[in-house]
Amino acid sequence: MNNTIPNILSNNNFTVTNIIRLLKSNDGDLKLLYNRAKEVKESIVGNKVYLRGLIEFSNICQKDCLYCGIRKSNTNAKRYFLSDEEIIQAAKFAFDQNYASIVLQSGEMSSPSFTERIDRLIKRIVKITGSEFGITLSCGEQNDSTYAKWFNSGANRYLIRIETSNEELYHKIHPRNGAHNFQKRIESLRVLKNIGYQVGTGVMVGLPGQTLSHIADDILFMKALDIDMCGIGPYIEHKETPLFEQRSTLMPLNARFELTLKVLAIIRIMMKDINIAASTALQSIDKLGREKAIQVAANVFMPNITPQSYRKNYNLYDNKPCIAESPVECQSCTVARINLANGKVAFGETGDSKHYITRKMIV
Ligand code: 5AD
Ligand code: FES
Repeated sequence: MNNTIPNILSNNNFTVTNIIRLLKSNDGDLKLLYNRAKEVKESIVGNKVYLRGLIEFSNICQKDCLYCGIRKSNTNAKRYFLSDEEIIQAAKFAFDQNYASIVLQSGEMSSPSFTERIDRLIKRIVKITGSEFGITLSCGEQNDSTYAKWFNSGANRYLIRIETSNEELYHKIHPRNGAHNFQKRIESLRVLKNIGYQVGTGVMVGLPGQTLSHIADDILFMKALDIDMCGIGPYIEHKETPLFEQRSTLMPLNARFELTLKVLAIIRIMMKDINIAASTALQSIDKLGREKAIQVAANVFMPNITPQSYRKNYNLYDNKPCIAESPVECQSCTVARINLANGKVAFGETGDSKHYITRKMIV
């Protein structure tokens, strides 16, 4: 038999069939998968865990993704936009606490005034923090010129999750209209890379209608795209979204959790030197979800530094963690969690993706 797990794991370039086999592994086989991922993690990126202070600066969204709690049509979501001063204070908090990088995340909106406002904020943050500070944007799809403008002002990383790499499934979880254009989303990732950003993407695991073959294709898609960073989380239903109606078709939460960990392990083995985030959604299923992700594959943790009073409104899915906590509380929790996972908190290190550094040296 040449498709035993040890045989598959002895080669790093898995085929779709191999990946599906790994995704189905249990017990002893699963241990082998996790151990191989740990081995790769240890030898290539080590046990450091880099921090990115997460500022969820607005939940205003022009899109209507069928899974997302802050979708435009959810009139129950109380909309907010932090003031410039609140955003700067949060960035300063991250800088003072030696996090060495932040993620500015919001719902998807685009307008000239939004572009200008974010641009001004990036410049102010660079002024306060200097060039040795990572600024990641997670503000959705924008014009090419906006991406370039923000990059030139000092943002150096950009995250856009593709959510699924299967066009048909993409249309099942997004409205079929020009605002939710699969090809445009993929194109954005290429544009961002050409501009010079460290580029991150990811998918949700356990979506209604998603098969193991879709997930295998997702992994190969990310590999082919040569991404620098990856954020993968389980899909978690939100009561006030259209996809909630399909909840009876979903696999149980603990199975979605386990499947996500397997995906992370496979990604670590196949894309050895990228940065992988321990996503918050993992923790909403399992209290130790982020720790488990760090033990197997992840090397990035995003302590939430959004001012406490806004957090309940950035409600992407039900049971989102860190809603009642303050930035200071999330900080001590973060350190404890990383220690528990035998990670080393990389205070003061921007933690650029090794993959990106290598990619830049080759070009
Ligand atoms: N379950 C899990 N993740 C979700 N996201 C949005 N809605 C959900 C949900 N219901 C994720 C998407 C998005 C990121 C900001 O949050 O992947 O890209
Ligand atoms: Fe906000 Fe999709 S609903 S990004």
